[in-house]
Order: sequence, then C-alpha cells, then structure tokens
Amino acid sequence: MPSEKSVYEPSAHASKGAYVTSLPQYQQMYRRSVDDPEGFWGEIARHFHWETPADPARFFRYNFDVAKGPIFTKWMDGATTNVSYNLLDRNVRNGHGDKVAFYWEGNHPDDYSRLTYRKLLEEVCRLANVLKSRGVQKGDRVAVYMPMILEAVVTLLACARIGAVHSLVFAGFSADSFAERIVDCGARVLVTADGAWRGDKLIALKSICDQAMSKCAADGHNVETCLVIGHLGRVTSPKGASQRHKTPMTVGRDIWWHDAVPQASSSCYPEWVRAEDPLFMLYTSGSTGKPKGVLHTTAGYLLYAATTFKYVFDYRPDDVYWCTADVGWITGHTYVVYGPLANAATSVLFEGTPFYPDHGRFWSVVEKYRVTQFYTAPTAIRALMKFDERLVKRHDLTSLRVLGSVGEPINPEAWLWYYRVVGGERCSIVDTFWQTETGGHVLTPLPGATPMKPGAAGFPFFGVEPVLLDEGGKEIIGEGEGYLVFPRPWPGLMRTLFGNHDRYELTYFTKFPGYYCTGDGAKRDADGFLWVTGRVDDMLNVSGHLMSTAEVESVLTEHRGVAEAAVVAKPHPVKGECLYCFVTVTEDGVFDERLLRELKQHVRERIGPFAQPDVIQNAPALPKTRSGKIMRRILRKVAVNDRDVGDVSTLADGTVVEQLFAMRPPDAAA
Ligand code: PRX
Repeated sequence: MPSEKSVYEPSAHASKGAYVTSLPQYQQMYRRSVDDPEGFWGEIARHFHWETPADPARFFRYNFDVAKGPIFTKWMDGATTNVSYNLLDRNVRNGHGDKVAFYWEGNHPDDYSRLTYRKLLEEVCRLANVLKSRGVQKGDRVAVYMPMILEAVVTLLACARIGAVHSLVFAGFSADSFAERIVDCGARVLVTADGAWRGDKLIALKSICDQAMSKCAADGHNVETCLVIGHLGRVTSPKGASQRHKTPMTVGRDIWWHDAVPQASSSCYPEWVRAEDPLFMLYTSGSTGKPKGVLHTTAGYLLYAATTFKYVFDYRPDDVYWCTADVGWITGHTYVVYGPLANAATSVLFEGTPFYPDHGRFWSVVEKYRVTQFYTAPTAIRALMKFDERLVKRHDLTSLRVLGSVGEPINPEAWLWYYRVVGGERCSIVDTFWQTETGGHVLTPLPGATPMKPGAAGFPFFGVEPVLLDEGGKEIIGEGEGYLVFPRPWPGLMRTLFGNHDRYELTYFTKFPGYYCTGDGAKRDADGFLWVTGRVDDMLNVSGHLMSTAEVESVLTEHRGVAEAAVVAKPHPVKGECLYCFVTVTEDGVFDERLLRELKQHVRERIGPFAQPDVIQNAPALPKTRSGKIMRRILRKVAVNDRDVGDVSTLADGTVVEQLFAMRPPDAAA
C-alpha cells in the first residue's frame, strides 16, 4: 500500500500539451493569482462578454471579519452580463454553433441523443419565453426537480437567461424535503419530468412533486405553475417493466413541456444582470438540521467555474469530458453545466447508474464516446472495484487522460485501483476537494503539473489560500494538522445563505474571526501536500451525500415510539460512512422489527432513500455528561466495537457504556 511518501509524477501522456506542464509553472501562476488577484482574474474576464465593464477600482472587495462589520465578497462590481449569453451566444458567435455540447446517454443503452450549442441556445430561449409568459421575473426563484436529461440543463440556463434564480433539488430527496426547500425559497414555478428510470427502478417524479406541492399549500405557499417534461414515453423501459405510467395533471397549474415549449419563440433577449446578482441557490445540510440555501452570484461564479474546469481537467478543444455527478448536487451545477459550457466543451450527460444493465456500464460509455476526462466519486470507485477487473479491461479506455474524484476522501486502495485499472497508469488523478459553498475546486492537483499522492488533495487552486488553525485559532505553519480555513475569498465562494445572512456569518465566520471555516480538518505533510481528513462538525458523508446527525436524529424522534435518538457516522467499505443510530424507546414503546422497519421507512420519506440508516441499535440509555450532553465520542466507539473508549469519568452513569457494547445488534459488524 502506498504511504504518505509515495509520490506519482504526472505521466508524459497527461503533461504533453497541457496548459500547465510543470510544478514551477503552477507555482508561478499561483503566486501571481494571490499577489495580484485583480490582474489574474481581470485577464480571465476578458474572454467573456460584459455588457457593462467592471469598475477597476472596485474589481475585488471583501470583509471576512465579523468585528469589522457585515461579511461580504464582491467581484467585478459595476459589471453587467448574462451567464447564458456567455455559455451559449458567445460560443455560437465564436464558431462553435455546430459543436456538440452534450451527448446524452440514457438509462437504457438504446437511448441516446445529442445537442449542439446552437440547438441548446434555441431550446433555452424557448423555455425562457415560456417562463416569462408564466410571470417569472428577474430575481424570482424557480424550483427544479429533474432527472439527468438535457432539459435539466435547458431549465437552468433558461432561468439564467431571464435573471431568475434556479433552486434545483436532487430528485432523490423526498416530497417532505422538497416541500421544505420550495417554501424556504418561495418558488412559485416548478419544473420537473413525469418520471425516470434508475436502473430498473421507476422514480415517479411528478407524483413526488404533487405531494410536495400539497405540503407547500398546507404551509400557505402555492406553486402556481408546474411544467412537466414527458420523458417516460420516449425512453426504453427495462425488460419486464410495465410500459404504462399515468401522470396526474392539475388543470390550471400543470402544463406539459411539449404543449408549451416547442411553440415558443427560439429567440429571447438576455436579461443583463449585475455581477453580484444571484445566479442560483442550492441547499446543503446544516448542522442544526435545517437546510441552508447556499447562494451563488453571477460574475465570480462564472469566472471560477470556467477557470477551474479548464485547468483542473486540462480540457482541450477536441476532448470529450464526462462528469457522472447528478445535476442535483453542486458538482452537477459547476462541472456538468456551467464549467464545461463556459469552455465550449463537449460533455457526456448520463442518466443511468454504474450498475445497469451491468457493472461495466461506465467503461462502455467511456469507450463509446472516447471520453478523455472522467470525473466520479470514491463511493462509485469502491463499489466497482469489487468486481472482476476484466469488466473494465475488456473496454478500450485509451482515450482517458484525466481521472477526477470528488465528494469525500478517497482511500489509497481506491485511488490505486482507479490509477492502475481504469487509468492504465497513463492518466493523472485529480482528487478535488471543495464544497457546495466554495462553488468550485479549492484544493486539487493539476493533471500535467503537480505530483500526486494517493489520498491527498494536494495544493490550492489559483487564488485560494489555505490555512490550518489549531483549536485556539493559531496558524499552523509547515507540517501539522488543524482546521481548514481561508482568510480571503476567491471568485466562486458563496455570498450568503438565502434569506439568512446572520446564519451565514454564524456558521462560517464566527468560530475563527477573519476566516471562512470549511468545517473540515486537514493536515499538511512534510512535502507541503494537503490531506483533507474529514468533517470536524456533526456532519456525515454517506456516499458523498453530506447530511447532519441532527437532521436524522430529529426525524427519528418524530416517531411516537422513540424518546431519544443519537446518530453517528460509522466507516463503511463502499459508502465511505454510514449511519449508525442509537434509539431510546418511550416508556410504552417496544424496540422490535416493526419499529426498525418503520424508522427506516420514515427516514426515507422525510429525507430521502440515500439517508436510510444502516444500523439502528436499541439504547435503553445514552452516554451523557452530568450536564446532559451526549458524548458522541463514546457512541462512535460502540459503532465500531472498539472498547478503547478513553476517559469516561465525566459521564453521569458509567454503566451505560458496557450496556451499549453488550447490546450491539448482530448486523452491526465490527
Ligand atoms: O467534507 C468534505 C467532503 O464533502 C464536503 C462537501 O460536501 P458538499 O457540499 O456536498 O460538496 C460535495 C462536492 C464538492 C466537504 O466539506 N469532500 C468533498 N470533496 C472531498 C471531500 N473530502 C475529502 N476529499 C475530497 N476530495
């Protein structure tokens, strides 16, 4: 197994012709980006269209210190532009009209299509006109609940075209979660599809939206328009599945896409918006349990998405890039939609799963489109490395040059398998660390330039200054481990939490005044490589899905039979982490199979299937301090059956610990 000292140099295959071909070149560009941010980003901005130019005196301003006043970040103040114009019209004008923007590959291998830049522009304009006709105006939020289809991209860009703010919610979230987010952002228009297949499973998206809209109405919020794409009727159903699916439509509110969009005009003058006007919001879990509406704005996000995409994937004009992330996550926003289109890239948009119709699907898609950059999550790699290598090797993967990883730490075993089996030892691996909040990559290798260590995110991207702090807020220089924070913003950092700037300041800027606090820990090794060690707060990362322990605990305690619940993360060989829940039943409650089933179902319904607990343990009592605080440290030890629990003298009742070990359920494994 590789150690911290194992270093892999970028191969000649990845370096030849790259934008950045050596470590000194990266270091020089990096220095310039932090010493002269205005000059560095100003040069990049020249490639884009600004209806009104930025005021050079106000190109970059910020305050990260709560003691000095409100926290803010502003890039390119005074400029006006339109992101859809930069992604579409500008590329069409530059001769890319007939270039394929997306190859769409459906869930079923028989379903595929493509869309050029010119056609994408026309579709975006048509939908923009429909949205306008339904009363959507600049600044209004539009809720989106979509599978991985071309119309998802069209919808996001149609919002951008008219200055509306898209709020896309991952279509794996339950109706309850979706409703909570619709009410929070106040969207009156919702765009969805009738349904979609994931492998051989049908997801009835419109029915989930119907439930969500009724819940919104019960909360006093009415969705006035629901636009529905008829997707199921045009795709191949899995073998043996019933062909019929009836989608209920509510007259006056629900409209079929095919009844409105094709008839609308294919031209729509872009709404010029200010540099700091919002582009989109995207919810992420908060440690208190209530989701946070992370808000990204226009100019800075565009510059950052475009620049990280270009350098981190080393995208060149004839490449075919593929990011497998769902558009419902920030990775889908920045590296399926905005980053690639800003670079006139050709991408694959994949609706399916790595396991359908067989475990070789990823590799057959790479071969089919001659993919050059492939970007996925460690959880997918770990799931696939369990199968016979021949499933990979029977495909021609020689087109690959860059392999990306995102969402959670990648363990060295998975890194090596990716490098050796998928990359044939010819490709560079970019382990990209970033967050919904950061807008784009912040720590990452550059494929032609920086050496790699399996499991290390490496070095900061241009304009990003990572700092490690100890518990007392003192900076750790050189080798060491601490809180990962940033003293200055880069263009793509979020600007606020929608409708709650106080929570923004409290969550990210209060623990260490003067710094943006990621919530992650990191260590710097003797060679200066950064290794992200994981969350330092009560957040869990299950298959790259971030969620809070509080969120799951509050859902568990909603059940009548549950008096108290505590949730911790347990390491999992494929998911990275899984949920281990301790439940104390009420006096008249019974801990039995039925309760287990109901609790799992309840979590699926209230949050989504991805949040289903792996283990639920009966806990007659929880380990608490005398002041009543649950000692999660001990619960984490019980979860992994490690009796080395350390000091328990502060516990109100020490016998609880032994009881919990004794009551570990058989399915909990070690
Ligand atoms: O803990 C870090 C982990 O995922 C968190 C961010 O999750 P989210 O906002 O959902 O965005 C995921 C996609 C960017 C981080 O705080 N994380 C993400 N990428 C990595 C990572 N941890 C280690 N290494 C990574 N490459």
